[in-house]
Amino acid sequence: MQDISSIVNIERLNTEAQALFEWCPVPLGSPLRTHAYSYRNWGIVVTADNIEWISAESKGAYSAEWKETDASMNTMIAEACEKAGLLDSNAIINMRVGAYAAEHISRLVAQCAKPFAFKVKDIGAGTGDTSAALVRELLKTNLGGSIAIELILIEPSEKRLETAIEAISRLTSGTMLERILFTIPHVGTVDAIRNMQSDSTDLFITNAAIHHESFNEHLPEISRVLLPGVPLISGDWHEGTYESPARVYWMYCLLQEPHDEKATEQIFRFVRGGPMAILKSERSELRQFRLLYGLDSDMILRAFDGLTEGERGAVVGSMRYWLEMGKRFGDEGKKSPEVLLQCHERVSKRIEALKNAGFVFDEECKSKYAELVRDKGFGELTAVMMAKKRVR
Ligand SMILES: C[S@@+](CC[C@H](N)C(=O)[O-])C[C@H]1O[C@@H](n2cnc3c(N)ncnc32)[C@H](O)[C@@H]1O
Repeated sequence: MQDISSIVNIERLNTEAQALFEWCPVPLGSPLRTHAYSYRNWGIVVTADNIEWISAESKGAYSAEWKETDASMNTMIAEACEKAGLLDSNAIINMRVGAYAAEHISRLVAQCAKPFAFKVKDIGAGTGDTSAALVRELLKTNLGGSIAIELILIEPSEKRLETAIEAISRLTSGTMLERILFTIPHVGTVDAIRNMQSDSTDLFITNAAIHHESFNEHLPEISRVLLPGVPLISGDWHEGTYESPARVYWMYCLLQEPHDEKATEQIFRFVRGGPMAILKSERSELRQFRLLYGLDSDMILRAFDGLTEGERGAVVGSMRYWLEMGKRFGDEGKKSPEVLLQCHERVSKRIEALKNAGFVFDEECKSKYAELVRDKGFGELTAVMMAKKRVR
C-alpha cells in the first residue's frame, strides 16, 4: 500500500479501517495505538509536520479507553485471561513486581545506617493493584524505624486514582506502614515524569501501563529521574500481534467465528509455525481490510515469519484472550470497552529500548527477569523485568 503522511489521509485511512470491524464485538481501535515503529506497516509515515498530531491522537485514543473505567475493567480483563488459560496474569505480574520491589527496599534499608526517605513512583497505578502488591510485601518485612517511604501514584484517570488511594489506606490502616508510608496521588500520564527532578527517585514500579505510549520517549525520562544504579521494575504484556495488519487479519479471522473450535485450533497451529489454516469463509469486511492495506496472499501466509517460537506463543496467548472477549461480548450482543490495537512491544524490542535509554541488565536484573506464562505455551506474553539506570 501507499505510505501516507498527511493528517487528513491518515484520519481517513484509520476511520475506514475501524469501520470495517463494526460487526465485531472487539473493536479495532485506532492504528495510532500501535507502536510508532509499526506505523509504516499500517501505511503511516511520521514526519516533522505530523508528529505532534500523531502523538496527541495516540495518547488520546488510550486515555479515552481508561478515563471513566473503574475496577470492573480489571475484573473483566482478569476473567478473560483466566478463560484463555493465561491465569490471572495481571495479579501474578503485580505480585512479582511487589516482591522484587520490597526486596530492593529492604536491602537498602539494611545497608543504610542513617534514617532516610525512600521515594517510589508507580506509573499507571490504576486502581492500585501494583502498589497494593508492594504494600502487602512490605507488611511481611521488618523495615525498622529509620525509614519513611513516599509512594507517588501516577495515573491519568482521577476516578481510578481515588480507588487506588482508598485501597492503599485500607491496607495500611493499623499497621506499621501507617506511620511511615506517605501515598501521594498524581493525576497525569507517564508524561508527568518530564517535570520531575533528575536523580530524585529510588525506585519506579509499573504494570501494564507504559505500553500505553506509542513512542518510547518516557524511558529516557524514567532513567533521568532515577538515581544512578537503581531500578525500574516493570511488568507488562509483550507481543508482536499489532505490528502488522496481516497479523491482525488473522485475529479477526478467529473473531468472525469465535465458537468454531476446529477453525480456531487450526489458526493457532498455523501461528505457531504449522501448516496453513484453510478458512471456511472470509467475511467481506475482512477481504476489504486486506485490500485497504494491500495484503496479498503471500503477505497473509507469511504474517508471522521472523517471530521466534516464544513470540509466536505470545501471539497465540493474545489471540486466546481476545477470543474470550469476543465470545463474552458477542454472546451478550455488546461491544468490548477494551479495543484490540495495543502497543505491547516484544520483549526484545523493550530490552533494546531500555538499553538505548540508559538502562543496564546486570546479574541481579537477569535473575529478576521472569516470563510468567511461558509454561502455559504463551512464551513471553507477560513478563516482569528489572532494569537499572546505568551508573555514570
Ligand atoms: C491495565 S491498567 C494497570 C493498572 C495497574 N498498574 C494494575 O496493574 O492494576 C493500565 C493503567 O494505565 C493507565 N494509563 C493509560 N495511559 C497511560 C499513560 N499514558 N501513562 C500512564 N498510565 C496510563 C490507565 O488509566 C490504567 O489505569
